[in-house]
Amino acid sequence: MSAVPIITGPPALRVGIVGYGLMGKAHSYGYRVAPLLRRLPVTPVVTVMSGRDAAAVAAAAVAYGVPATVTDWRELISRDDVDVVDICTPPGTHAQIAVEAAAASKAVLCEKPLALTYREAAAALAAVTRAGVHNAVGFNYRRLPAIALMRRMIAEGAVGEIRLWRATWLSDEFADPATGWDWRFDRAMGGTTIADLGSHLIDMALCMAGPMDSVCAQAATFIGERRFEGGFAPVTVDDAASALLRFESGARGTMEVARAAVRRPCDFTVEVNGSRGTLLFSYARLNELWYGGADDDIGLYGMRRIRAEHPSHPYAAQWWPIGQGVGYGSSFANQAADLLSGWPEEPWTPGFAEGAAVQAVCDAMETSAESGRWVSIGEVIASGL
Ligand SMILES: NC(=O)c1ccc[n+]([C@@H]2O[C@H](COP(=O)([O-])OP(=O)(O)OC[C@H]3O[C@@H](n4cnc5c(N)ncnc54)[C@H](O)[C@@H]3O)[C@@H](O)[C@H]2O)c1
Repeated sequence: MSAVPIITGPPALRVGIVGYGLMGKAHSYGYRVAPLLRRLPVTPVVTVMSGRDAAAVAAAAVAYGVPATVTDWRELISRDDVDVVDICTPPGTHAQIAVEAAAASKAVLCEKPLALTYREAAAALAAVTRAGVHNAVGFNYRRLPAIALMRRMIAEGAVGEIRLWRATWLSDEFADPATGWDWRFDRAMGGTTIADLGSHLIDMALCMAGPMDSVCAQAATFIGERRFEGGFAPVTVDDAASALLRFESGARGTMEVARAAVRRPCDFTVEVNGSRGTLLFSYARLNELWYGGADDDIGLYGMRRIRAEHPSHPYAAQWWPIGQGVGYGSSFANQAADLLSGWPEEPWTPGFAEGAAVQAVCDAMETSAESGRWVSIGEVIASGL
């Protein structure tokens, strides 16, 4: 009988995930799939997961293939078998967990938004900078092939100088009045719809069109209380918001986010109009990008559909043969592969500095919606420190 050869891969990079809900599952999936996509210097292994409910976190750990659980995230941070603390809990917990993970010299990946306020985000940034640890914010949508291609085409000049940037994010998460109260309706834990959905769009705006100068926003809450524990609890977040944007470059923009849009599940669009062309992405067709350029043959006037899955496109060669497409989960596998492919030399991106820059724009929109005036990003940064 011949011996079965033992194959050893790269050394383990041990991850502790705080939270076992939707993002705990998505991040676990990402670490599993990343080594299938790219040859990495380390193999990500989720060693432990934390959750306040012992039975629930244990059940999740079995499903996600995680060998250990704890009920206190501080215990997770202090474990010797954790190199990376991956924060997948509600926004109101992010900054504190990130600060304590950095103090324990652990690398930190934090789900978006980085914090509830710019002040908290700046404190988290200061903590990881002081500790000199790797840090990243989970802006996973920028790692979809079509969004990455959109950024690349903008950088290569396909649209010329950006003049207009426009985005909408429509969801029906809060549309049904019968949906009960949970942390997402509590501003002190879930943050606003501006920060929840808007943080992804603002991240894309900043990395496509550059820094923002100022914003003017409005926000509304249509259902003021929700059923909770036999009674009702007040809703302290907006159901929807919209904003006018001014970029430092002089470009103008608009952004609308809503969790009150009936029969719209997670429909987001991003469009850029430049001096020489237009690019349009719609998440409902996430493997496609629409492009029209001023130099195109006039007989073909209009926008053409690019299949953002050609091997020459970002991420595409690592996935399936052209025509098969990728999905939401792929963005988390791309995220894990991107972060770990340069370990430990390469810093992570987008880091807490980008997360704090996004937070400054969120704060400016929230302040504008409350005060009814234009608010500059500089004003938020000056008052937050
Ligand atoms: N990148 C994305 O596509 C995406 C999608 C959804 C959510 N998110 C973000 O991920 C984070 C988690 O969202 P989710 O949808 O996974 O939520 P979820 O409700 O599915 O899971 C939240 C987890 O945090 C735990 N938790 C709740 N309150 C806590 C507290 N006070 N202290 C410690 N743990 C607590 C819960 O037990 C659960 O394990 C949020 O910041 C959210 O904005 C990102």
